[in-house]
Amino acid sequence: MSDFRFGIWGCGLISAFHADAIQKIEGAVLVGAYDLNEEAQHKLCAAHQAKAFSSIEALVCSPDIDAVCICLPSGLHYEAAMRCIQAGKHVVIEKPLALTSTQAGDIVQAAKEHRVCVSVISQLRYSRAVQKVKRIVDSGKLGKITVGNAIMKYWRSPEYYAKSPWRGTWAMDGGGALMNQGIHGVDLLQYLMGRIVSVFAYAKTLVHEIETEDTLTAVLEYENGAIGTIQATTSVSPGYGRRIEICGSRGSVVLCEDTIEVCDVEGEMPTDSVGQKEHASASNPSGIDCTLHAEQLSEFVKAVRAERLPQIDAREGKKSVDIICAIYESARTGKKVFL
Ligand SMILES: NC(=O)c1ccc[n+]([C@@H]2O[C@H](COP(=O)([O-])OP(=O)(O)OC[C@H]3O[C@@H](n4cnc5c(N)ncnc54)[C@H](O)[C@@H]3O)[C@@H](O)[C@H]2O)c1
Repeated sequence: MSDFRFGIWGCGLISAFHADAIQKIEGAVLVGAYDLNEEAQHKLCAAHQAKAFSSIEALVCSPDIDAVCICLPSGLHYEAAMRCIQAGKHVVIEKPLALTSTQAGDIVQAAKEHRVCVSVISQLRYSRAVQKVKRIVDSGKLGKITVGNAIMKYWRSPEYYAKSPWRGTWAMDGGGALMNQGIHGVDLLQYLMGRIVSVFAYAKTLVHEIETEDTLTAVLEYENGAIGTIQATTSVSPGYGRRIEICGSRGSVVLCEDTIEVCDVEGEMPTDSVGQKEHASASNPSGIDCTLHAEQLSEFVKAVRAERLPQIDAREGKKSVDIICAIYESARTGKKVFL
């Protein structure tokens, strides 16, 4: 079987994780990359023996590329994804899929029409600890599930925002602590708890000189009757690991980053589920490694080859965009918003 050939569009912080992840996948190869910033492009290409494409047209239209990883600022994901899809390329889009539900819906539709695979990065779903919690929740061992919380009290420095000025803007980041950093917890919460039907939120900019929120809390109601909260900040020093708490009438589980911290569930041992604390990105945006990206990209390659949808397709990616946009609408209007 011939190699599966990736291209990367955008050569900033996260692109190196994609490049490293592709190198870990047997039968996959990074052909080349493109960035407006030549220095960033050459750094990535030189480190991975990949071709520096002279234009995005050259990359997107290249017959040597099967799929494009979009690693651009979030506000460019929609246009970039549409361009790749219309060129008949399979696409992996860094989170978030897009900045609005309408854009996200357009990508879902375009992927279907052009018969290409689109996947949105949500690498944490591939962690062993998350998979174990998913199995416990789906087994019914927690009894009636009553509470589902995601707590992401992170810190980001002023330099983090200054270095990439698109961060913390509505046009290019689509939001602040929730859309950029908190989206992983939002995705895990809805993956584990099921559909969220209404939200009510407060959002404030308390510390950073950015347009969007650095401190947010939302109250949620789930389709299964449970209630819960999402808390997302980049304003809390020194920053703490992401906590996902799923509690029910017969048991509770708590994930802290990639470790099951509490496992009060009959017949389940917490000790066999210690994950990798080093994934923690509570205060350091580079504090992840590429293992889980590799798991997701590997599954994506298998899906394309089998001509089936990837596990985290565009419809899955749209779910967290819908929830986050509803939370922002509630914070803006002061009203409860139904999804
Ligand atoms: N999955 C994760 O855990 C994770 C972590 C960090 C970032 N991300 C996501 O990855 C995306 C990129 O974030 P980042 O931190 O790498 O950003 P970054 O600012 O470090 O890199 C973005 C790159 O895009 C380039 N670029 C901007 N406009 C361009 C254009 N029109 N054409 C070509 N190149 C262009 C910039 O020159 C820069 O090199 C964001 O959507 C972010 O949400 C995901």
